[in-house]
Amino acid sequence: MKTPHTRIHDVLKHGRPGQEVTVKGWVRSRRGNKQVQFIALNDGSCLQTIQIVVDLQTIDAETLKAITTGACIRADGMLAASPAKGQNVEIQARELKMYGSADPANYPLQKKGHSLEFLREIAHLRPRTNTFGAVLRVRSVMAYAIHRFFQQRGFVYLHTPIITGSDCEGAGEMFRVTTLDAKTPPLNEHAAVDFSQDFFGRETALTVSGQLEGELAALALGQIYTFGPTFRAENSNTARHLAEFWMVEPEMAFYELPDNMDLAEEFLKYLVQTALDDCSVDLEFLSAHYDADLFERLRSTDGVAFERLSYGDAVELLKKSGKNFEFPVSWGCDLQAEHERYLVEECCKRPVILTDYPRAIKAFYMKGNDDGRTVRAMDVLFPRIGEIIGGSERESDHAALLQRMREMHIPEQDLWWYLETRRFGSAPHSGFGLGFERLMLFITGMANIRDVIPFPRTPKNASF
Ligand code: 4AD
Ligand code: MG
Repeated sequence: MKTPHTRIHDVLKHGRPGQEVTVKGWVRSRRGNKQVQFIALNDGSCLQTIQIVVDLQTIDAETLKAITTGACIRADGMLAASPAKGQNVEIQARELKMYGSADPANYPLQKKGHSLEFLREIAHLRPRTNTFGAVLRVRSVMAYAIHRFFQQRGFVYLHTPIITGSDCEGAGEMFRVTTLDAKTPPLNEHAAVDFSQDFFGRETALTVSGQLEGELAALALGQIYTFGPTFRAENSNTARHLAEFWMVEPEMAFYELPDNMDLAEEFLKYLVQTALDDCSVDLEFLSAHYDADLFERLRSTDGVAFERLSYGDAVELLKKSGKNFEFPVSWGCDLQAEHERYLVEECCKRPVILTDYPRAIKAFYMKGNDDGRTVRAMDVLFPRIGEIIGGSERESDHAALLQRMREMHIPEQDLWWYLETRRFGSAPHSGFGLGFERLMLFITGMANIRDVIPFPRTPKNASF
């Protein structure tokens, strides 16, 4: 039978002296003397621990001895006003029960203050640290806020496939999905792997984006959003790239580029405001330990209109900057993180939305401008992060899209269904993709993207 117990978050918030409570959680520390001991217990419901005061005349020393850092226990007792700093109540233990001990000689989190690098090697235990408890709670609140934002505006949540036969971004950085034997795959008459014998009877891969399917649904339901995992086999071993990351992709019929920008800006501001409103305790902890400027940065983003600049103007500003960039800038080049951060942090001192990129460096589906050399793309650039959102108005004209696909060698036979939406009831439409972990970097102030997802997948790392 389930023993009723109270979450420590609720005990600390609503508990009154004299109340009987039961709490369950993991021991963070135990200290004291031969008469009285103090256990700090955390159950993940909040950052704080509750203090359990143990009188050795009530609880026998044997029971107490096994209650070491990391052990999981239940404590029954009465709440009393606490003289300790930062909490109103503590528990005077009547009974303690051990669920699972944690041998102090072997428990990896016995001591405090481990490096983030070390914690990445023990991803199975790091949720028990203050840092990862805080990050994971904020992540959950942000995920819920994303749904709330779109649901309140009448967007339909669309589930797009994880396994796909098409390469949305056209960059070819996909993880293959197959049930064929890697050592002895069946071969066809050209001595190439015969994928007709594979599970789906064709080549398939993990999706890099739900956008193309999102567009199909937007041209039926009006406004949709996706929120799911995406996979990229790019070998970027940076603090901003994951091989498996979560993306939010709204897609809206009848939106043109300025509408798309307005929505992206409103969306990001809503998420920052939610974090400030609902995650203050966890964010204060993260700020104190990792990023002293966190709150200043969050508030500054929320309070200002994002700067809107064309790619061409941005290139001029970068050229005039007098900065010695590692990658030199000229019209047509892809902007690097160093350029993006200069524009945001030094030049404009606010988030920037860059538009109208050269067509050659952007995906095939973006709508062309009349100048013939730029497309209606938009990237939202954030302080410390660089690109946090990428999006565009889509090419909705069948002939123009087909021509662009041919120019870029996008296999039209694989995307016949995508082309077909431009033949039947096409409409102007736009959308964008927010990298959820990039957002999490910004919100939490953490420096490495591996530390804002529970189980990071990066080159040479998918152990568990
Ligand atoms: O700019 P990207 O590649 O755009 C798309 O995939 C479009 N289909 C989106 C759309 O218009 N619906 O990716 C969108 C965002 C980036 O701005 C970045 O925040 C994030 O996804 N992102 C990554 N995040 C972590 N690790 C990676 N390897 C990422 N690649 C992109
Ligand atoms: Mg992009």
